Amino acid sequence: MATQLILLGAPGSGKGTQAARLVSEMGYNHISTGDLLRNEIAKGSELGQKVQGIMTRGELVDDATVLELLNANCDLSSGSYIFDGFPRNIDQAKSLDEVVIKNANHTALYFDIDLDVLAQRLVNRRTCGDCGEIYNLISKTPKTEGVCDKCQGTNLNQRKDDNEESVKTRLGVFKSTIEPVLEYYESKGALKRVNASAPSEEVFKEVKNTVK
Ligand code: AP5
Repeated sequence: MATQLILLGAPGSGKGTQAARLVSEMGYNHISTGDLLRNEIAKGSELGQKVQGIMTRGELVDDATVLELLNANCDLSSGSYIFDGFPRNIDQAKSLDEVVIKNANHTALYFDIDLDVLAQRLVNRRTCGDCGEIYNLISKTPKTEGVCDKCQGTNLNQRKDDNEESVKTRLGVFKSTIEPVLEYYESKGALKRVNASAPSEEVFKEVKNTVK
């Protein structure tokens, strides 16, 4: 079976940006638990209403809810997946193995970066509400202000959790949960690290070389 790719990294380390490139150039399926949860909020579903406040504050949604959502949206028979935003803690890492990918070959790619630079990246992120393209008001501005280069949509949004207070919580949660996850994949010989502080294009080259 094909190798599944698990992206690990702090909020703003570039997981979503690199996942989009990997999908368009290497044909992966992309599954982001953050996107799945935000879709539920946009639909106004019961689940969306339950998680809205939690996500806006920058806290984690409970493991069972996220695992159920992930499993319902993932079909490994359709090829290799990029798992983006899952796992966030050691219990989720074990569940991913046992319940979702069922011990299929996998590589965990850690986006290694100094956390101090991430708040600046996150508060300047904008995302196209029509096609999902990710921008940054400092490092990746659209060619025409307010207009998506990719689909020409004019709906460039700031995420509700990309404010200073939520970002502080998100980075704190990350710091307190990541080490056991890294140790878990290291012990299985499945962990690779990329330098996520380089410009996006260089990060992509390193990611591509690492997963080839
Ligand atoms: P989620 O949507 O997963 O957000 P996150 O983990 O906080 O990650 P981000 O999407 O913020 O960052 P990214 O690494 O994808 O960065 P990006 O490429 O966009 O989760 C949101 C919430 O959902 C959680 O807080 C939680 O509540 C809930 N949730 C999700 N999964 C869960 C789970 N498994 N369990 C429990 N709860 C869960 O880049 C960021 C910015 O930087 C962009 O502007 C980009 O243009 C820029 N940038 C990217 N790369 C570079 C570069 N190399 N140089 C300069 N700028 C760059």
